Amino acid sequence: MGGLRRICARHHRHAGRGPRVRCRAPAPHAGFRAVLRRARAGAARHPAAHLPGPQGRRCSSGPSGDRPLPAGRRDRGACRRARPDPGRCGGASDGAAVPRCCEGILRMSGAVPHIAIVVGSARAARFADYPLAWLRERVGARDDLRLSVIDVRDVGLPSYNLPKPPALAPREYSSRQQRALGQRLDEVDGFLFLVNEYNHGYGAALKNMLDHYFAEFEHKPAAFFGYGNVGGSRAIEQLRQVVAELNMVSVRESVHIFGMQFPAVREGGPAAAEVFDALEPRLTVMTDHLLWWARALNAARSA
Ligand SMILES: Cc1cc2nc3c(=O)[nH]c(=O)nc-3n(C[C@H](O)[C@H](O)[C@H](O)COP(=O)(O)O)c2cc1C
Repeated sequence: MGGLRRICARHHRHAGRGPRVRCRAPAPHAGFRAVLRRARAGAARHPAAHLPGPQGRRCSSGPSGDRPLPAGRRDRGACRRARPDPGRCGGASDGAAVPRCCEGILRMSGAVPHIAIVVGSARAARFADYPLAWLRERVGARDDLRLSVIDVRDVGLPSYNLPKPPALAPREYSSRQQRALGQRLDEVDGFLFLVNEYNHGYGAALKNMLDHYFAEFEHKPAAFFGYGNVGGSRAIEQLRQVVAELNMVSVRESVHIFGMQFPAVREGGPAAAEVFDALEPRLTVMTDHLLWWARALNAARSA
């Protein structure tokens, strides 16, 4: 990730050697399965112990190394896994160290993964703002991630009316709002959904947002913080099915505020602190695993 230290995800023997590794060796392609195998083996020690450091990123030189490409030839290899964005660069290298089509993945977080809290309720007087404030404070205080918030109330998307399903037309945006959010989503490495429960399901505004995208979510992890009579758990279980269809990985652990705890949270002060303090250990484990997957899938997407 970013410019501090670049790790070559193809040629893992280079990993960890410090600043700016160049990969010229014709090592076999690591492959998605191999990357995940290494990731899983490491999980036995610590959620992130196996990974090539928080800076683990693909080799900036790609399979072509730093050699200039013959005139007119596309640097297909450098873009192969990165879902080139024809709207932005047509998949061709322009000679820059990082092909523009890969910027969304390489840029994703500077030195640490970029995690976005996705707020699912669009109501003006929503309960969501209480857990959101706490999550911003607690998750935002970690130095092993960068946090942003994507709020369905603010995204400005119309009800779904796209000419083609986004899975069949990646990053073909129909509106300025869809493009703006799509570009933000591209920069995110992992999502923490803040889930309201309406009629045993998650909110329609969140579904509308998810349906507008595919590639922007694909191969990224999703974790869930729910609230409701039974902690929003029914809505979360529905949402797990949806993110699976977006080809995301859902994190096992989730965090919940139950209906009987709502008054204490609304009251604020010591009553709310007691509720949130009890959630803290679970939040830590969930966030650790979200980061584990964010790093593992970054490496896999870049391989
Ligand atoms: C239309 C509607 C349906 C609801 N259905 C459920 C439900 O099925 N299960 C539940 O636990 N809470 C349900 N609730 C209560 C919500 O959990 C509660 O209103 C919560 O504050 C909603 O989140 P929000 O304020 O962030 O939008 C429902 C609320 C609304 C408005």
